[in-house]
Amino acid sequence: MNKINIGLIGYGVVGSGVAKMLLKRKSFIKNKYHTEFSIKTLCDRSLGKKDTKNLTHTKFTKNYLDIINDPEIDVVVELIGGMNPAKKIAQQTLQNGKHLITANKELMANAGQELFALAQKKSVSIYYESAVGAGIPIIQTLSEGVVGNQFTGLFGIINGTCNYILTEMTKSNLSFDQALKSAQEKGYAESDPTLDINGMDSAHKLAILVSLAFGKFIKIKDIYTEGITHISHDDIEQAEKLDLSIKLLAIAKMTDDKIEARVHPTLISKEHPLAAINSIYNALYLNADPLGDVLLSGEGAGQMAAASGVVSDLINLAGKGQNAHLWSNLSDENKKLKTRKIDDIESKFYLRFMASDKPGVLAKITGVLGRAGIGINSVTQKQHHQTSTVPVIMLTDYSTEKKLRSALNTIHKMPVVKAKPVAIRMEKLW
Ligand code: HSE
Repeated sequence: MNKINIGLIGYGVVGSGVAKMLLKRKSFIKNKYHTEFSIKTLCDRSLGKKDTKNLTHTKFTKNYLDIINDPEIDVVVELIGGMNPAKKIAQQTLQNGKHLITANKELMANAGQELFALAQKKSVSIYYESAVGAGIPIIQTLSEGVVGNQFTGLFGIINGTCNYILTEMTKSNLSFDQALKSAQEKGYAESDPTLDINGMDSAHKLAILVSLAFGKFIKIKDIYTEGITHISHDDIEQAEKLDLSIKLLAIAKMTDDKIEARVHPTLISKEHPLAAINSIYNALYLNADPLGDVLLSGEGAGQMAAASGVVSDLINLAGKGQNAHLWSNLSDENKKLKTRKIDDIESKFYLRFMASDKPGVLAKITGVLGRAGIGINSVTQKQHHQTSTVPVIMLTDYSTEKKLRSALNTIHKMPVVKAKPVAIRMEKLW
């Protein structure tokens, strides 16, 4: 029987889910994998407020060094999130020759390369399945299942909170705030939900995916990131009419040794499999060669979905042994690859202008777009609601971001345009 002592740091939504799952699956894990996991020590800042009555053989501490410096602890499970003190915890864990399991996307996105180098030096491993898509085996698929393939593109719905909000706004007609509140109550959102709705959570996850799929540690600042806060019911209604779905997509493509990586609301055809990924479901759609297109999907947020990824990491670590070499732990990168700037990327756009409802307004707006060389494929003005401002929707032909942004700035300054124009990129996924 393999006996593994765990030091668990962080007893929030995910940490308590891991403890719950280890207890519930104790005999299943023992019988099937001949392994016994024991949470030897638990570290949490606010232990007094937590229900720990099921952890009968566990020591409690508020000082993570009690775990990191304990020679009897084999693996540290870091579930506190954020960079500080998570980075220090990760470094000292590896430095002390212990394996690290983490669900911390921010940490892996910003410090993955240096942590992998340290893990290699110390002959230990880092497992981080729950950092992207909770328990969906995305990290394992990219680092084991499809490693013989080259990738040209990846398209991810990798924030459960945003997908839940957009779905609830579409299907249950909830307001943005109502849907966000519900996501928070259900434990899907981050402790600071701004990171979900402003797209940063997806950007962190995308950086991890880019490192695995393309072998490049991309900087977060090189990922163009836009959240979903500006999406209104008007946009959702129009998308439905056009047979399109609005999804917060994380996109990475490689062409001519250049990688583009971006996160933004995207209009996609309802026919594409990603359009059917709703609520807290996450998905990753990969263009792989020679395998072809692959879709991975499942619940990407929530206590037990994340716990499933962490517990699977623990079992895989136990099975692979101390010196297993993981392709998901490589610190080398392809230096030839450069990043493509968002300004140079071409898309078709859905545009919404909140404009005065009077003659000549459309001509003024289309005039600016025309002079910028941006073709318009269709124009729709919603019916009056006895207000003087109406949404005007336009679909453009292909334009570079740079050209479009400059035209929108000019249009925004026009007195007949009453709010910042909204632009949503339209992506053809096949
Ligand atoms: N807040 C994240 C989400 C949890 O909504 O997807 C999983 O990383």
